[in-house]
Amino acid sequence: MRTFPEGFLWGAATSAHQVEGDNVHSDWWAWEQKGGGREPSGKACNHYFLYAQDFDLARALAHNAHRFSIEWSRIEPREGEFSPEGLAHYKAVVQALKDRGLEPIVTLHHFTNPLWFARKGGWKQGKAPEYFLRYVAFVAKALGRDVRYWVTINEPLVYTYYSYLVKAWPPQESSALSAWRVRRHLARAHIGAYNLIHSIHREQGFPAPQVSIAQNVQAFEACFPTLKNRLAVRLRERFINFDFVDALARARTLDFIGLNYYSRNLVETYSWRLRHMFNDVCMKGHRPLPQNSMGWDIYPEGLYRLLSSFGRRYPFPLCILENGICTDDDGLRWEYIRSHLESVHRAMEEGVRVLGYLYWSLLDNYEWDKGFAQRFGLIEVDYSGFRRTVRESARRFAAVCATRTLA
Ligand code: FCB
Repeated sequence: MRTFPEGFLWGAATSAHQVEGDNVHSDWWAWEQKGGGREPSGKACNHYFLYAQDFDLARALAHNAHRFSIEWSRIEPREGEFSPEGLAHYKAVVQALKDRGLEPIVTLHHFTNPLWFARKGGWKQGKAPEYFLRYVAFVAKALGRDVRYWVTINEPLVYTYYSYLVKAWPPQESSALSAWRVRRHLARAHIGAYNLIHSIHREQGFPAPQVSIAQNVQAFEACFPTLKNRLAVRLRERFINFDFVDALARARTLDFIGLNYYSRNLVETYSWRLRHMFNDVCMKGHRPLPQNSMGWDIYPEGLYRLLSSFGRRYPFPLCILENGICTDDDGLRWEYIRSHLESVHRAMEEGVRVLGYLYWSLLDNYEWDKGFAQRFGLIEVDYSGFRRTVRESARRFAAVCATRTLA
């Protein structure tokens, strides 16, 4: 029997473009229209209109928190023009969460950008952080009374990697120089946003905010423990897991550390090129593990190890902002959740401070360039009529949320 502390945040996460539908002013939407990715997002889960009923389900599943993202291109569809409808929508979303006793955890940037911003040069341009901060100021003033948890940027390195190194996501560049600039601007954007959100909350008398990023972390292991592979593991841990967080910690701009964890990479180096950093996993089937439907290894031990190393390295509490599995086998989904919660509990028992656990995702949704085939949801979505069906795994997770106890 494992019990979690009172006040622990339990829930699930989504992001605007993946669930809302019709994000017509974003760069990702424009890319889809030109044939980018497997299929267009279209109406996605129609969550833009169905959010209240989705939050009813979350409440019924005993969640007490929910992470979602604000679509910048809905707030500022044209440069410098802030949309009252866009803002009213997200105010209503926050209110709907509060009415149901769900703590809002708001992401300000989750991979998509307004088209005008992308056309000016996106995150490569020197003024990118400035544009971002103008939007952040607008949103924080409007929502800060009701929002304590702010996540400035989702997975800065994943975004940089797929959009600027391996051409997978818009703007499909492959340039180490661009990637370096983007990474630098994302760090500046976070640092600026952290300070801005804090000063707005102070000036307006809003409750003290808790600001972080969502850092993608992976469990790297050497396939065979050769010197070369072990060195490759260290480099990946350093650059992918820690470096960005180190920079923000040095700038004193974190109140907690948001972590997104999914999988293990069994590293077998075949090249030292930057673009192979994320994907030079062993392809020969050595030391196999069960996998999700995208072929990612299921490795709960990795979460325990990462929580322990983050807990040792930084003086901040941690929060799992994403952890989940795409699968057509709902029994496997529950086993994934159960075993990862076991890892969280084990780390906490050893003294690591963890604020909460948000499963990815509340709903099946649009998995970026991979389209709709991957099923991550606690709740199944029938895309032909947007009908929701609560999965058994969701019910089992609900029993943990309701009792704070993992049997
Ligand atoms: C993360 C993203 C999230 C979702 C999951 C599967 O990298 O933050 O939007 O796509 O992966």
